[in-house]
Order: sequence, then C-alpha cells, then structure tokens
Amino acid sequence: MAFNILGISGSLRSTSSNTSLLHACAELVPSDVNFSLYAGLDKLPYFSPELDGEGAVAADTVADLRQQLQVADAVIFSTPEYAFGMPGVLKNALDWIVSSAELMNKPVAVISASPLATGGEKAHASLVQTLRVMSAVIDEKNMLIVPLVRTKMDAAGNITDLQLENSLKEILVRLAVRAASVSQR
Ligand SMILES: Cc1cc2nc3c(=O)[nH]c(=O)nc-3n(C[C@H](O)[C@H](O)[C@H](O)COP(=O)(O)O)c2cc1C
Repeated sequence: MAFNILGISGSLRSTSSNTSLLHACAELVPSDVNFSLYAGLDKLPYFSPELDGEGAVAADTVADLRQQLQVADAVIFSTPEYAFGMPGVLKNALDWIVSSAELMNKPVAVISASPLATGGEKAHASLVQTLRVMSAVIDEKNMLIVPLVRTKMDAAGNITDLQLENSLKEILVRLAVRAASVSQR
C-alpha cells in the first residue's frame, strides 16, 4: 500500500533552504511513499472566521489546501523563523484548517531551518504548539531543528551534510510507519 506525504514550506523565497529540505525529502522517501509539495501558501486569503462560518463558501485555494491535506497520510512542515515566530503566511494557512480539522490525528513532522545557530527554535516551538492544539500527532523524534543550514547545503539547495540527510530519511520512514499504523485502525 502506498502512502502520501505532503510537504509544506513556511517560506515563499524562491531559493528557500526550507523548501530545499522538502525537495530533498521528495528524493529520500521510501519507495512506497508518494511525496508532494504544497505550493499555494501565497494564494490563500487572509483568514477570517466570517469567511469560514456557516453559509460561507471557502475560496478555491482554501478548498485545495484542505483537499491536499485530506489525501495526505502524513504531513511534514519545514519553516524559517521571522522575528522569533513562524512566518505569518504559514500561521494564516493553519488558521484556515483549525475548524475543518484535516490535521486531527494525522502524523506530522516539524522542521525549522535557519542560517543562525539557533535554527529557528522559537518558530519551531510555536509551530509545534499550534499543530498540537489542532490534534496533530507529533513524535518527539519527528521534530528537527537545523541550525546553520547554509553550511549544510550547496548553492543549488542540495544537501551536503550526511547527518542532516540521514535525519530526514529517518523522519520520513517514521512518518510512513506511523501513517501505516493509523490506516490499519
Ligand atoms: C524579516 C526577517 C526576520 C528574520 N528573523 C529571524 C529570526 O528571528 N530567527 C532566525 O533564525 N532567522 C531570522 N531571519 C533569517 C531567516 O532565517 C533567513 O532569511 C532564512 O534563510 C529564511 O529561510 P528560507 O531560506 O527557508 O527562506 C529573518 C529574516 C528576515 C528577512
């Protein structure tokens, strides 16, 4: 049985190191896993409960986000940190799925990567907190902080650090195993 993992990067930069980590994940997944990368973060409207309440019709972009999350057996986030928090665009996307609950009981991995030595640890902690309040399932081992990320990839975004590559591989295997155990319930 094949599993679907959806990657969501918190960065909109064309040369984002976080997006590069997720591109690497697409190459590192076990053979029975389909990996896709969500690309609609900057197309979502600003969240307002009034746009999401009874009788409201969700924008196509919101419906698309929800649909991609529904078909995903597991989700992996990789985010930068801006001013000690997660990027507003990422929080905006998460706000759209609080009520629709696509992440409820879903295995999720959380990565933060930063050129700084702190690795975006504050954004990481706040993202984990938000995802847990949405009842996502996050194993401690599927939480990865990547400090000094620019020393761990080349200019084209390929990972040059073997330890980082192995950490990603291990996370992807654990997510697939988790997804398999959820689907058997
Ligand atoms: C406005 C702004 C605020 C930032 N604040 C932080 C921060 O609080 N912590 C941090 O580790 N990096 C911070 N950075 C640096 C980002 O980590 C860096 O731009 C990183 O490469 C973004 O990730 P990306 O390569 O995936 O786009 C900030 C960058 C900008 C432009």
